[in-house]
Amino acid sequence: MRYDEVYCKTKSYFGAEPEPLLKHHRHLLDKSHRILDIGAGQGRHALFLAREGFKVDAIDSSKVAIETVSAMAAKENLDIRTYQSSFETFEPETDFFSGILIFGLIQILSWASIELLLEKILLWTRTGSLVFARAFTTKDPSFARNRRSREWKSSGKNSFTDERGHFRTHLEEGEILSLFCDFKVVDHWEGLGPRHRHGDGPFERHAEVEGVFRR
Ligand SMILES: C[S@@+](CC[C@H](N)C(=O)[O-])C[C@H]1O[C@@H](n2cnc3c(N)ncnc32)[C@H](O)[C@@H]1O
Repeated sequence: MRYDEVYCKTKSYFGAEPEPLLKHHRHLLDKSHRILDIGAGQGRHALFLAREGFKVDAIDSSKVAIETVSAMAAKENLDIRTYQSSFETFEPETDFFSGILIFGLIQILSWASIELLLEKILLWTRTGSLVFARAFTTKDPSFARNRRSREWKSSGKNSFTDERGHFRTHLEEGEILSLFCDFKVVDHWEGLGPRHRHGDGPFERHAEVEGVFRR
């Protein structure tokens, strides 16, 4: 997906509201330290937390995403530091974060990048820090579609790549628990997410996994 184009065309492509998982568990986050939103997109989570008094670092590789979040943060005078950066090259200006958000990120990464992401999460958190995650599972309709498609080639376990170098990786049932095996499980759910649409696109529902993990 070309995120710059998508974000230019549609105001709240992934919705304006934060994921209910974050709303529900935000009280567990320590406000005295910063939160890192990786792949912040148009900022629905970073803005929500900052409006609640959290200090947030928002990173995204999309220029348009970061310009959007920066403009909103400036307009509302919110404590959000924005970085147009991939997590691979990001250098935090803080020792650790009390929370890291990875909503919708795992499903667009290769396994090599997911492993690096998990290493970075360990590097950027300390005991008590929370990780909020949401990803697609192998039960999502796109998994069967990608397997059949000529456009997507297999690139590892339940993972696909196209000729532009995009990735789609689907987690098996319970697999997220092994990715976060060094963490305590605060919340974990797998199932069919809500019916939704992106802009004026078709209605969709995804088979998803979400979780909150405490280091
Ligand atoms: C599916 S969107 C999710 C956006 C947001 N988290 C949400 O839930 O609304 C994934 C976002 O991750 C960003 N992204 C993709 N690869 C990235 C990387 N390696 N480092 C940082 N951001 C990345 C994309 O530009 C995109 O904005």
